[in-house]
Amino acid sequence: MKRHDFVTIADLDKNALLYLIRMAQEFEKHPDRELLKGKVVATLFYEPSTRTRLSFETAANRLGAKVIGFSDAKASSVSKGETLKDTILMVSNYADVIAMRHYIEGAAQYASEIAPVPIINAGDGAHMHPSQCLLDLYSIYQTQGTLENLNIYLVGDLKYGRTVHSLIMAMRHFNPTFHFIAPEELAMPQEYKLYCEEHGIRFEEHTEFNDKVIADADILYMTRVQKERFSDLMEYERVKNVYILRNKMLSLAKSNMKILHPLPRVNEIAYDVDDNPHAYYIQQARNGLYAREAIFCHCLGITLDDITNDKTI
Ligand code: CP
Repeated sequence: MKRHDFVTIADLDKNALLYLIRMAQEFEKHPDRELLKGKVVATLFYEPSTRTRLSFETAANRLGAKVIGFSDAKASSVSKGETLKDTILMVSNYADVIAMRHYIEGAAQYASEIAPVPIINAGDGAHMHPSQCLLDLYSIYQTQGTLENLNIYLVGDLKYGRTVHSLIMAMRHFNPTFHFIAPEELAMPQEYKLYCEEHGIRFEEHTEFNDKVIADADILYMTRVQKERFSDLMEYERVKNVYILRNKMLSLAKSNMKILHPLPRVNEIAYDVDDNPHAYYIQQARNGLYAREAIFCHCLGITLDDITNDKTI
């Protein structure tokens, strides 16, 4: 029986998000549980990934499921011309839930409309990355003790950055103030600024990136300039190193401020930041395991009570 898809974070209301965070907290206490024993999880990655695929697969393994799938579509019958529809229908014959990353925006939504099993969107082009968003929310909650009334600075590639687009949508429930720091070429798209206006989300835009601009941040969310999304590589070369966070820029930071990054990084966070107590991006990626365990439970109808009453730990 199909349970819940996890295709866009916009579908989840405030209570649902907080419920998933509580589930993730339980998994942080005890990641190894047999809640998915007997289930098969498929991971279909049409685009490269390290964290998302491996943390989904780790989550499935730690919950007792078996994992099938591909990390390179060229090694599957996609290379013979099999369509997304046929691939999804075939894998639905074998798996209880499918986590998929695809380069086409809307591919996961399409898959969810045809699949008899739940679909998890592990990133669709420059559009959405809802599982990253949940682990970002979890990381913010764990570091700030709340999601309410925070100053969140989004820096870098705000045009193609699907993680920042998802974060804006999820934070609409929590009265944030966003600061968008990007060069003109990579500015936050108009549709997301309109989304902010429609949902009463305050935002400011900056092109400067220095210690004074970020001094009021609770969360400093850095992003990579995504070479793979540019049709004009000359433009990529012009903007690729536009903002680099260095340790010396953190002297004015608030004590609670944490630096997040969905990773991978290229040049946008210097290595001298890694040992600064404000750096949180390695733990953030670890939180992906707990968030994705919660997502599998959400998709397969396993409740918070099932987790707290679980006797398999
Ligand atoms: N954050 C993220 O999506 O990383 P990967 O591309 O390595 O999965």
